[in-house]
Amino acid sequence: MKRLENKTAVVTGGTTGIGFATAAKFIAEGAKVAILARKQEELDKAAAELGPDCIALRGDVTNAQDLGDFYAEVERKWGKVDVVFANAGIGEFTDVDASNGEHFDRLFNVNAKGVFLTVQKALPHLGEHASIVINASISGRKGFEKLVAYSASKAAARSLARTLSADLIPRGVRVNSVSPGLIDTPIHPKMGAAGEDVRENARQAIPLGRAGRPEDVANAVAFLASDEASYITGIELIVDGGLTQL
Ligand SMILES: NC(=O)c1ccc[n+]([C@@H]2O[C@H](COP(=O)([O-])OP(=O)(O)OC[C@H]3O[C@@H](n4cnc5c(N)ncnc54)[C@H](OP(=O)(O)O)[C@@H]3O)[C@@H](O)[C@H]2O)c1
Repeated sequence: MKRLENKTAVVTGGTTGIGFATAAKFIAEGAKVAILARKQEELDKAAAELGPDCIALRGDVTNAQDLGDFYAEVERKWGKVDVVFANAGIGEFTDVDASNGEHFDRLFNVNAKGVFLTVQKALPHLGEHASIVINASISGRKGFEKLVAYSASKAAARSLARTLSADLIPRGVRVNSVSPGLIDTPIHPKMGAAGEDVRENARQAIPLGRAGRPEDVANAVAFLASDEASYITGIELIVDGGLTQL
């Protein structure tokens, strides 16, 4: 039996990168999957690739109404939600002098408030023994230059996994986080870093000698989402090729 057979899963930011790979993994494990993101063109492309076990709906994780509508539609189509991957996130490099309140608001809005709303708005729609996974980052636990607001927002995401796991234990819901290291996804070009530079840096800096693949993170998320992790809550599972540990 597949690990997510008969389960309904949602992935915010499921159109590209880690979210897309995780949506594909969830489907391969037997789940029906709903993805949410802002750009319709990317949603259409992802839906076509993921096939009939995926619905792709437009919405913004910073908007509580969008999330409420999203979960209502998922429950209407596929019943109660068993798995939530709160993955949507943005990154920006800035010099410490150039960072400002707007920059902090933009990053915290998506990476911290968006994660909270993704979990909170899921609550009325969750099935029994639901599992929630929050995408944090090793930048929340290690100092990388020019990532002042991003890293703080990711430390907040990791903290949300702790607090929400405590809050939701009485409801039978597990909440964990995953902290990717340097993963080869479109987020780096969006942040102004060429993909080849990222891969070369990773070859030099990462103990396992390569950048992570989105599938490396998807495998960890699928484990935390599944009943194999039924005795695990509140953790941070680091997927970084050894970067923070060695
Ligand atoms: N790649 C890495 O090295 C790395 C490392 C550590 C952590 N992470 C985290 O992993 C997560 C996924 O990143 P990725 O690397 O896979 O990047 P990506 O390919 O850029 O994916 C980001 C996804 O989030 C969506 N998104 C962004 N803002 C959104 C919003 N306000 N509402 C709804 N969806 C939104 C994007 O779609 P739209 O733009 O269409 O909305 C896209 O689907 C992020 O939280 C990121 O911080 C990545």
